[in-house]
Amino acid sequence: SRTPLIAPSLLSADFARLAEEAQRVADADWLHVDVMDAHFVPNLTLGLPVVRALQAVSPVPLDCHLMIEAPERWAPGYAEAGARNVTVHAEACTDPRAVARDLRAAGSLAGLALKPGTPLETHLDVLRDFDTLLVMTVEPGFGGQEFMAEVLPKVRRARELVETGHLRLFVEVDGGINADTIEQAAAAGADVFVAGSAVYGADDPAAAIAGLRAQASA
Ligand code: DX5
Ligand code: ZN
Repeated sequence: SRTPLIAPSLLSADFARLAEEAQRVADADWLHVDVMDAHFVPNLTLGLPVVRALQAVSPVPLDCHLMIEAPERWAPGYAEAGARNVTVHAEACTDPRAVARDLRAAGSLAGLALKPGTPLETHLDVLRDFDTLLVMTVEPGFGGQEFMAEVLPKVRRARELVETGHLRLFVEVDGGINADTIEQAAAAGADVFVAGSAVYGADDPAAAIAGLRAQASA
């Protein structure tokens, strides 16, 4: 079976202690950073200066999820800052292919995110230019929401397209991933699992990561 990647979401961490919070999940695969601009989503988090500071101290490669308008303008900066993967929203992009090209040229993987109501089929063409497909399993904007199992057919379809060689992508799920939901997401074919409250809400984040990894590998 596929090797699952576990990506704790810093959104549920203590923003006054970002360096320590990154250290607490040192055994994770990617550290998921939710960038929100109060326009694309009704919430505001952090931006490039904070990501640069985090990149300098994080033991874990950064996975930046940009929930922002005009991502073409801002996304390459996150790649230049050293992020491993930078994901932009399909709903916010006028030319996703150009963003993918710029991200790869700046040295990161390129990710495309789809909100729960955004179909995969209309984006298949452009996905050939991406490395990561992020399937949102909650409406973007906030941590701690309930997992939307109705999105799983999209994960299944993406996995099928990867297995048949039509696409070559990480299939990442984000939103409501915890001990009760990760097995469904893994069975549907996800291989990158973002978990905010399930990791940072746990007494022992390292144990939570190990538990999720074991469940996703089963
Ligand atoms: C929501 C963010 C998620 C969020 C997930 O817009 O994209 O990354 O942190 O949090 P949980 O795992 O608590 O649903
Ligand atoms: Zn996210």
